[in-house]
Amino acid sequence: MKRHLICSVDSLPPGSRRVVKIGVRSIGVFNVDGRFYALRNSCPHQGGPICLGHLTGFATSPTPGEFEYLRKGEILRCPWHGWEFDVKTGQSWFDPARLRVATYPARVESGATLAADHCGSESDPGMSGLCREPYTLETYPVAVEADYVVVEVPGSS
Ligand code: FES
Repeated sequence: MKRHLICSVDSLPPGSRRVVKIGVRSIGVFNVDGRFYALRNSCPHQGGPICLGHLTGFATSPTPGEFEYLRKGEILRCPWHGWEFDVKTGQSWFDPARLRVATYPARVESGATLAADHCGSESDPGMSGLCREPYTLETYPVAVEADYVVVEVPGSS
């Protein structure tokens, strides 16, 4: 899988998202309480832009008159017909055994790691595993001060 630099951690605070184009795919990257998740921006129902949907939670009720609101900001509701999916796994709440949104590994990497990979790619572009596009970095001397969100996408360039 190729690694794609999405943005700095600081620019994607908890509760926010960013939808990016990687190759032919539209992918939404979400920060849920400081952890990052990436989902394909295509609803398994009819292909709606799921990653533009409302983030919510769900309510449970052990007995009439009592309820609890759980997992706030972890449930993604498709803007077209309202089907709901778990941001962390891509699974549908409607039919978890059969339906899910495609997910991709997302994590935080230090600027130092990315800089080291980038330097490696100068001499051997095939070995770094870090894809430059769509965010090509120019090569200037830099001081590394931030962490970055990176998503792995199979077969993309
Ligand atoms: S396209 Fe997403 S719920 Fe219908």
